[in-house]
Amino acid sequence: MRPAQGGSPIETQNDVTQHDVIVIGGGPAGYAAALYAAGIGLNAGLVEKGALGGTCLHVGCIPAKELLETAHVFRTVSHASDFGVTTSAPELDWDVTMQRKQTIIDQLVAGLGSMMKGRKVTVYNGVGTLGADRVVTVSGEGETQTLTAPSVILATGSLPRTIPGFEVDQKFVMTSDELLSIEALPQRAAVIGGGAIGCEFASMMADLGVDVTVIEALDQILTGCDRDAAKVVARSFKKRGITVHTSAPVHGHSPDPSGSHTSVSFGGDQTVDVDLVVVSVGRRPNADLLDLSGTSVVVDGRGFVEVDGRCRTAEPGVWAVGDLIDTPQLAHVAFAEGMLAVTDSLGEEPAPLDYHGTPWCIYCHPEVAFAGHTEESAIEAGHDVVTSSLRFIGNGRAKIVGDTDGIVKVIAQKLDDGTGGQILGVHMVGPWVTEQLGQAYLAVNWEATVDDVAAFIQPHPTMSELFGESVLSLTGRSLHG
Ligand code: NAI
Repeated sequence: MRPAQGGSPIETQNDVTQHDVIVIGGGPAGYAAALYAAGIGLNAGLVEKGALGGTCLHVGCIPAKELLETAHVFRTVSHASDFGVTTSAPELDWDVTMQRKQTIIDQLVAGLGSMMKGRKVTVYNGVGTLGADRVVTVSGEGETQTLTAPSVILATGSLPRTIPGFEVDQKFVMTSDELLSIEALPQRAAVIGGGAIGCEFASMMADLGVDVTVIEALDQILTGCDRDAAKVVARSFKKRGITVHTSAPVHGHSPDPSGSHTSVSFGGDQTVDVDLVVVSVGRRPNADLLDLSGTSVVVDGRGFVEVDGRCRTAEPGVWAVGDLIDTPQLAHVAFAEGMLAVTDSLGEEPAPLDYHGTPWCIYCHPEVAFAGHTEESAIEAGHDVVTSSLRFIGNGRAKIVGDTDGIVKVIAQKLDDGTGGQILGVHMVGPWVTEQLGQAYLAVNWEATVDDVAAFIQPHPTMSELFGESVLSLTGRSLHG
């Protein structure tokens, strides 16, 4: 039942404060749930032990992309002479970079705080735990508060995973948490894990002059991305001096007795000497502090809270969202889950999210963006497929900006005449593709056909023409491609 606008007033009886909805965790999943609930008119309380914004704002998306933008500026200035612009070789003032990153974070956190105030979300500072009957205890500095609500949403996020032999030591071994605030860049770095975080850090550090080695256990970097697109990134990394080892699990590292560097061993019997090891082998859910023992919420063997398609846990009236559950660990997925949980709590029975069509954006250079099936996964799912893959080297705008490494690959159902039917996936790698994914995302998720999309006009000269041309060439006719 939809509550009256304004929700119930906050009442405190017997020292228990009553809300319509309580959210534990103030990252993208939690703050989205609280803001969305308050926007509907619910009386929302949000419990957060640190600053609002979670991993995304403090040690994830925002600082990582800010440092990648610094790398972009550095790279652009390094190539200024290609445009006839004369400048001295760029130099990096890391302190200024770090200050700029922090200013952006601070502004976004302050904006979030204002939004919370504006929507009258009550923010409780402290560690939230959940007991039976949706009783939430907030342990702050020196005081404890007790809250309850008909709906409680768990959104306590995730932490970087480490691996045995690579414990964070503040000297040689770091995760993303530490790297994003590092005082100075090393000369040589090993990045363990060639996933989204690993590739973004490798790219950023290489652009800024670090000698980078990526060590990945699987047989390709960027698993989940179409192999052809991942190959473009691997080739581009190689051209920029980044060494990538695949099928190479790491074994350990041995600091040199001089204390100046460490030697990482991996693969058969390979080693590399580096000044820093960045461990980016995934993130683990963080249910540790919630103390769920008095509830029927189920935590699986890997630490994820088990939920159904609408993010409901096994405890009535309790939902879990974001990195705490086993769905793509992305801020935009977290936003969607936060809103879904609130909608479900109103009894509106929203449609479960379709994770298969999730948009993915990875901000290394060249950028990667995709939605839907890879060629391999489409075939595995039983589709007869036809693909088209066009390169940015032929695109006018890409030539103008001087950034032509990359492809747009469209994977479609194959019709009897050999042309394309429904678009099953689009995988892009190249300049600004994270900003170009939008129309590909809609095409995949709207289950558009090649003919539907090919009929639309793409503005010229833009990089997004390449998507239009890739789709057009699957109709059996083509223009430039
Ligand atoms: P990931 O799961 O994407 O990649 C980790 C990689 O480490 C995998 O390729 C895995 O095979 C490899 N690995 C694991 N153990 C290893 C070992 N012992 N030796 C060598 N390689 C090993 O995790 P990542 O990159 O840490 O990112 C964590 C999460 O954060 C991801 O799930 C992603 O959703 C999210 N994220 C997304 C970003 C984006 O979309 N732009 C950016 C940063 C993070």
